[in-house]
Amino acid sequence: MSLDQAAQKAVAARRAVREVDSGMVVGLGTGSTAALVVEALAERAREGLQVLGVPTSEATARQARELGIPLTTLQEHPNLDLDIDGADEVSPERDLIKGLGGALLREKIVALAARRLVIVVDESKLVEHLGERASVPVEVIPFGWTRCVAALERLGGSPRLRQGPSGPVLTDGGNWILDTTFPPGGGLSGLAGQIKAITGVVEHGLFVGLDPKVFVGQADGGCRVLG
Ligand code: A5P
Repeated sequence: MSLDQAAQKAVAARRAVREVDSGMVVGLGTGSTAALVVEALAERAREGLQVLGVPTSEATARQARELGIPLTTLQEHPNLDLDIDGADEVSPERDLIKGLGGALLREKIVALAARRLVIVVDESKLVEHLGERASVPVEVIPFGWTRCVAALERLGGSPRLRQGPSGPVLTDGGNWILDTTFPPGGGLSGLAGQIKAITGVVEHGLFVGLDPKVFVGQADGGCRVLG
């Protein structure tokens, strides 16, 4: 048996929702893998699991509502039991790049509000060094954005403004994203603080030191658990 990436994500998603116990308040991630998690969670909710979700994007909120998962907010529940999300890259230290789906700001706020972070990926997301395949999404306010470009270049990055069919892609927060590649060779985790310190940067997609439990769906149909 050899599962494709979508099937690997589905295997890991089903496995990861077993981490949710009745009565929990759970962060709901964004992206194609997180959508499978939401589906699997909705299935468990139909079977009687009591759960409240805090969505990390408007898209996830819509999906959860459609599937009947009750939602709440960080104002009502500032501390979550668990957050389950996808990732674009996972390093051996279980540091992450996230945000290719553009929801990195809410994703990070929700991840930091949760007692435990669970990440669901397929095998292709495991890398030796962050930045091997994915660029680092950096969310910036549109005003003066070229100053952020220059500052990222001074850190060795090559930023590109993310474009949609009708201009720059707008995040749920009304900001723009600079997809920034860095020269290979590691050390990206160490740049997190310097990127964050650029005035005009709202957040970046380096999720470092959060100690997630990572569920990796495998081509052989199994699911490896890291952390
Ligand atoms: C969304 O903003 C991202 O952080 C996603 O979690 C990440 O891009 C993974 O997406 P997929 O599950 O679609 O690969």
